[in-house]
Amino acid sequence: MVDKDVVRRGYDDVAPVYAAERATDGRSTAILERFLESLPEAASVLDAGCGQGTPVLRNASAVGLDFSGEQLALAAANAPGAALVRGDLAAPPFAADSFDAVVAYWSLIHVPREDRQATIDEFARLLCSGGRALLCVGKDDWRGTNPDWLESGAEMQWDLAGAAATRDHLRNAGFAVVDEWTIVDPLEEDSDDAEPAWVIIDARLDR
Ligand SMILES: C[S@@+](CC[C@H](N)C(=O)[O-])C[C@H]1O[C@@H](n2cnc3c(N)ncnc32)[C@H](O)[C@@H]1O
Repeated sequence: MVDKDVVRRGYDDVAPVYAAERATDGRSTAILERFLESLPEAASVLDAGCGQGTPVLRNASAVGLDFSGEQLALAAANAPGAALVRGDLAAPPFAADSFDAVVAYWSLIHVPREDRQATIDEFARLLCSGGRALLCVGKDDWRGTNPDWLESGAEMQWDLAGAAATRDHLRNAGFAVVDEWTIVDPLEEDSDDAEPAWVIIDARLDR
């Protein structure tokens, strides 16, 4: 099972290495930009697991939520002026109906599967009627650990619920899936033989 303290400490340690390796353009950013353009003008957006503040906070007028202090420090530098909040995705410290949209890019993948439905239920609670969610999840279920992720010396753990399980979680929380894309990892976008291992799901709250 994923230990959230290991994930948080891992991101505190890996933050500058991850930021240097993470492509900020490419397919996932193009999908994000189209998603943001489709929102009403002045929509309020939550970047759930904002990390280093790219690409979401830099492209949107959004509130960033993350539990890693080092990631939030990078986000403050990369997206000056963004509102940043330290907290857990499973218990976001915001009132109901606070946002028009939530984006979770490569963050739900670290939430233990036991907390996954509750986390997506929380996203639904935070959204206004008809609110939208753009979530990146694994193509398939997978759970794993890397003791030296990105050769940074930091341990990292993942728990991917997979696209099929996530569709169920979304449906249970009252969302309807609007669109879906299978994409390669932004850490491997320059590699010719990278397998598309990630799914981005655009969903709308059906209330
Ligand atoms: C792979 S990074 C993604 C950062 C950015 N969204 C991106 O697309 O590059 C995952 C981020 O999610 C955060 N995170 C993971 N689990 C979390 C949790 N339960 N609560 C808050 N933040 C979490 C980590 O601290 C990290 O900054």
